[in-house]
Amino acid sequence: MDPVRNPYAPGAGQRPPELAGRDRELDQFDVVLERVARGRPERSMILTGLRGVGKTVLLNALRSQAIGRQWGTGKIEARPDQPLRRPLSGALHMAVRELSSQHRALDKIDDFLGTLKAFALRSNPTGGKIRDRWQPGIDGPAISGRADSGDIEIDLVELLSDAADLASAVGTGIAVFIDEMQDLGPEDISALCAACHELSQTGAPLIVVGAGLPHLPALLSASKSYSERLFRYVRIDRLERSAADLALLAPAQREEATFDADALAALYEAADGYPYFVQAYGKVTWDVAPRSPITAADVKVAAPEAEAELAVGFFGSRYERATPAEREYMRAMASLEGDASEAVSTSEIAVSLGRKPSSLSPARDSLIKKGLIYSAERGTVAFTVPHFARYLRTQPA
Ligand SMILES: Nc1ncnc2c1ncn2[C@@H]1O[C@H](COP(=O)(O)OP(=O)(O)OP(=O)(O)O)[C@@H](O)[C@H]1O
Ligand SMILES: [Mg+2]
Repeated sequence: MDPVRNPYAPGAGQRPPELAGRDRELDQFDVVLERVARGRPERSMILTGLRGVGKTVLLNALRSQAIGRQWGTGKIEARPDQPLRRPLSGALHMAVRELSSQHRALDKIDDFLGTLKAFALRSNPTGGKIRDRWQPGIDGPAISGRADSGDIEIDLVELLSDAADLASAVGTGIAVFIDEMQDLGPEDISALCAACHELSQTGAPLIVVGAGLPHLPALLSASKSYSERLFRYVRIDRLERSAADLALLAPAQREEATFDADALAALYEAADGYPYFVQAYGKVTWDVAPRSPITAADVKVAAPEAEAELAVGFFGSRYERATPAEREYMRAMASLEGDASEAVSTSEIAVSLGRKPSSLSPARDSLIKKGLIYSAERGTVAFTVPHFARYLRTQPA
């Protein structure tokens, strides 16, 4: 069928033509926004899930919901080895700019921006040359005295409280979205927990919404034991059959095309409900199908091509990032893992490689840092990428 009208969108954070199967999360977030706006106690929300399940896309949809209510919003994508201070100041700057276009409280906004600038400037190393100093894009002078002690925990508590006060003064809320949150450093995680803890006690209208890999809750609890009660964890997973069908059918119908029942069954079997795979198989199947309705026979023709594209783009690009020692480690994992993406014991991996567990720690740690595996429970690891074990087992050594 006409490739120009192909509606499917496999990609990273690429908005799907139909955001299927996430009504519960969207409704839940509406309640959160309403409660926060009324000063009710509410917990910050954390979305967790494997690669390609749609965390970024959902995070963006939640952000749109907040914007729809005239909230100020900002978003960060955390990166390993990048301290939170700079990106967070950018995100809050954005949030406050959104507020100022909707509301009038200009003095208060200028005061807050002064504090924000002082907070941001603290990211410069002390004693560096003036001309090497990074400047935040905030007009007006920095106002020292708050959020600029240099201790991120103290500063974050003060900054977010001030931001919440500002939001409450203009009669709205602020939401900060943090994607790839597992990549924040331990000090930043701990500071963020402390700040959310403080805010939750005062019923302040500011919330943090995070998204990350499945071990993010473990990271947060290791940082502050109260974090289990501080955040509402929402697991984002594969789509159920009806949602996966909707993800394929709704966009097709807008192009006056459809799938027959056997085609939908075959696509569910192939994509296993994982949103990225649903888009990838949907896209190739559309292109190979001669006409609507798309049939199971079309899916059969498309599958090898879709698999080949996934092998290069989705799996291969990640496999390429691993060193030979890390690849060996992942292959041992893959040979031990059943088909159900389960966690594998690190001691069994050591046994299967005939090595001491301690000698494998560097490979394990760097694979975690690269986001290819995670450890949600001590002594076990699992792939962050669905079907990765299956992919590795088909690769020649
Ligand atoms: N609910 C959904 N319905 C249909 N398609 C979806 C849905 N959610 C995500 N997708 C599609 O799945 C793909 C992956 O989405 P996204 O990038 O948000 O995943 P992610 O969980 O953030 O992955 P990563 O961990 O790699 O960042 C995109 O192509 C997106 O269009
Ligand atoms: Mg993402």
